[in-house]
Amino acid sequence: MCMVLSESFHATDWTSTMQLEGITALVTGANRGIGKQFARALVEAGAAKVYAGARDPASVTDPGVVAVQLDVTDDASVRALAAELGDVQLVINNAGVGAPALPLDIDLEQARWEFDVNYYGTLRVAQAFAPILARNGGGAVVNMLSALSWFAMPQLSNYSATKSAAWSLTNALRLQLREQGTRVVGVHVGYVDTDLTAGLEGDKVHVSAVSDALLAGLRADEDEVLVDDTSRQVRAGLSAPLSALYPDPAAA
Ligand SMILES: NC(=O)c1ccc[n+]([C@@H]2O[C@H](COP(=O)([O-])OP(=O)(O)OC[C@H]3O[C@@H](n4cnc5c(N)ncnc54)[C@H](OP(=O)(O)O)[C@@H]3O)[C@@H](O)[C@H]2O)c1
Repeated sequence: MCMVLSESFHATDWTSTMQLEGITALVTGANRGIGKQFARALVEAGAAKVYAGARDPASVTDPGVVAVQLDVTDDASVRALAAELGDVQLVINNAGVGAPALPLDIDLEQARWEFDVNYYGTLRVAQAFAPILARNGGGAVVNMLSALSWFAMPQLSNYSATKSAAWSLTNALRLQLREQGTRVVGVHVGYVDTDLTAGLEGDKVHVSAVSDALLAGLRADEDEVLVDDTSRQVRAGLSAPLSALYPDPAAA
């Protein structure tokens, strides 16, 4: 398997360091939460232009960004934006949704909706913008994932599944897009203090911890950005026996 991959996908050796100064970027779901912070941080880092994608562009209030209409579940919306934004060099797939529900209880419409935004939305945007990134020299795609890509909690099982799928997609995209010199970065973090986690108990990092880690990761050409201890511990736990991540309460 590794030999096949190395022959098919590693033909281009690309080592260029990503410069954020002067770059043109698109952030999806940039009207609030982590996406809003990503857009703000890119402006502060000297990006020439930051397109802030939002279902309702009027909800984008930050000065210094360019509000654009984007619903990642809508093929026409994604295609129209790609036709309009030929100058993008960095795409941040941040838009995401999730609501607590146990696996046996979740309404299938809700389950499909979470996949449509978190997985298919990421895929749709990547497909539409990959040719633009290629024309602009390669650039990068960033996918906003989660520590829950690697760890299932019953109440968030469908959300976790969407992020596991998006992690797999991230790794496959990295292999395919290497040919055109596009870096693909996955960002993993535990709870962040946003609307998404408003009803959840637990330690939460500030949105700026996520943007700081991503910008540092982009500058250091990292493929995977682990923002906090939670994501680092869960990642390390994957190579341990299953009981390291899922201890048996009966055995305690
Ligand atoms: N918060 C956390 O603890 C945490 C941890 C790990 C990963 N993440 C991930 O980080 C990303 C941002 O999360 P957040 O905490 O900032 O969530 P949030 O505060 O709830 O914001 C979600 C954003 O996604 C947008 N969005 C939802 N559906 C969309 C669609 N169909 N098309 C375009 N945009 C859409 C929302 O726009 P509207 O205002 O129009 O709804 C909003 O801008 C998500 O991918 C999430 O899974 C979050």
